[in-house]
Amino acid sequence: MEVIIQPTAEAASLEAAKKVAAIVRSKPNAVLGLATGSTPLGLYRELIRMHRDEGLDFSQVTTFNLDEYVGLGAEHPASYHHFMWQFLFSHININPSRAHLPDGLASDIPSFCGRYEQAITEAGGLDLQILGIGADGHIGFNEPASSLASRTRIKTLTERTRSDNAHFFAPGEMVPQHVITMGVGTIMEAREVLLLGFSSRKAEALAAAIEGPVTQMVPASVLQFHPKATVLLDEAASGNLQRADYYRHVYANKPVWQRI
Ligand code: GLP
Repeated sequence: MEVIIQPTAEAASLEAAKKVAAIVRSKPNAVLGLATGSTPLGLYRELIRMHRDEGLDFSQVTTFNLDEYVGLGAEHPASYHHFMWQFLFSHININPSRAHLPDGLASDIPSFCGRYEQAITEAGGLDLQILGIGADGHIGFNEPASSLASRTRIKTLTERTRSDNAHFFAPGEMVPQHVITMGVGTIMEAREVLLLGFSSRKAEALAAAIEGPVTQMVPASVLQFHPKATVLLDEAASGNLQRADYYRHVYANKPVWQRI
């Protein structure tokens, strides 16, 4: 796991965008795993700018999102479908038939989840999975105590996650109890993983994920076993890391060929 600490979330988002762009340029039909939430917004803004100003081409890219709320259709303003079109897909030249998200209105959820896994496999697997992290260490919607071998499936949200995500919903609107999420095992099969963590609100979860024991109680900690995982943090999010100075030292002294 490579840990990169940047002064601000903006700077870290630019680094993340460079990594995504490098993959898309070297493999125009790359398969990207995408995330929602406030964390990847700066990354998406920069990808849109690169598309507009530098011609970064998404026409052959395939995407799979991590998760979706059960019961919310694509038109619902708090659905992750809506989020992705609002903050990324409408502003780049992605082929809509290649932009996949779990279907929150699927009538047979287990069979939908099986087909979602199959579609990822048939696309050739994920070249890069973008991740945020929940304040409790969840990735996707894999809450603490999720099996580290889990696949795409239905999950029940914790009350903490529901309240953390309530700001995406209209005042007084209920945050759904259930979601469909890629599993921890699904995420671990991505050839590369890029976890973004910003703000002091994430510092505790990030320290547990990066430096704590690997445990299903902190699902993000399993990334310690991933062969190619990068964690991009802002200063505030790195506040609880014991080895922060070392990670900075490593990054400052990297050979040029090893940089993003
Ligand atoms: C949700 C999403 C996660 C995301 C997390 C953090 O639970 N399912 O993928 O990482 O929120 O959200 P934020 O980036 O808004 O802090």
